[in-house]
Amino acid sequence: MATKRGRDEGLWNFGQISLGKTLIVCSMFETMDLVKASLEAGKGLLRPPTEGAGPPAESRTAPVLVPIRSLGVNHKDRIARHLLALDPHDRYLRFGFSASDEQIQRYVDSLNFERDEIFGIYNRRLELIAMAHLASSVDPNLAACAEFGVSVLKSARGRGYGARLFDRAVMHARNQGVSRFFIYALSENTAMLRIASKAGATVERDGSESEAHLNLQPATLDTHLSEMVAEQMAQSDYRIKVQVKQFWDFLAEVQAIRRNIQDAQRRPPK
Ligand SMILES: CC(C)(COP(=O)(O)OP(=O)(O)OC[C@H]1O[C@@H](n2cnc3c(N)ncnc32)[C@H](O)[C@@H]1OP(=O)(O)O)[C@@H](O)C(=O)NCCC(=O)NCCS
Repeated sequence: MATKRGRDEGLWNFGQISLGKTLIVCSMFETMDLVKASLEAGKGLLRPPTEGAGPPAESRTAPVLVPIRSLGVNHKDRIARHLLALDPHDRYLRFGFSASDEQIQRYVDSLNFERDEIFGIYNRRLELIAMAHLASSVDPNLAACAEFGVSVLKSARGRGYGARLFDRAVMHARNQGVSRFFIYALSENTAMLRIASKAGATVERDGSESEAHLNLQPATLDTHLSEMVAEQMAQSDYRIKVQVKQFWDFLAEVQAIRRNIQDAQRRPPK
């Protein structure tokens, strides 16, 4: 039924591909859901970024599509800003110790964007509200292992961003041939351990520290396609946010100039 609808609408013509057709058709419909969700999410971009101090109550749940993009070295400043905004307790949960500003800066400076993968979620003001670091093992005996670390700004928590970043990192890891996925967290970190155990990870507690590990399935055509589509969408979403922000910044400048002129006109001549 689903297959027929896709073919009739001619949305994605994969009909000629004989290998793994079912998988492709599944991806096709997930992709269409992503497109619809993306358009839906795009509506919010037209609201001025200064409107309201925070998001309205109904938007505190994550949209169907969370645009998670891969971050390159040119995002370093925003990564630093994101991590420096974490309070001491969150830094303790994230790094296992109360990292100082200098230690955070050193961590950011040492990020290896070639070897590792950094994912991020931007809001429409282009603030990095959530990020994850998928670090590949540097030990040649553990080449197929990776470690996951994540942080979400307090104002954006409880919307599923942490879990979505986890899923995104797992998908990427599978596509990179990683078979063991590790998460180190403090045992008190209920939210992180919940994300890991819900994804099927085995959690081993050792006093105040816990290690969670997940054995990953090999990549499939579906995981490759899904990652490709997710990344493309996130890049487009980011570009749109940049343009919309430029538009609102421009409008704010025009309004400021207008206000200055009006003030000058209202002032009595000396
Ligand atoms: C851990 C962290 C990333 C979670 O981010 P988040 O976006 O709020 O998490 P989610 O919204 O995806 O929630 C994931 C699950 O944890 C649960 N959860 C979230 N906060 C919780 C809390 N304070 N206590 C208990 N459970 C919590 C959610 O209900 C959800 O479970 P559910 O799917 O069964 O409803 C965030 O709290 C954070 O940045 N903490 C500081 C840094 C850190 O601890 N990093 C992890 C170590 S690497």
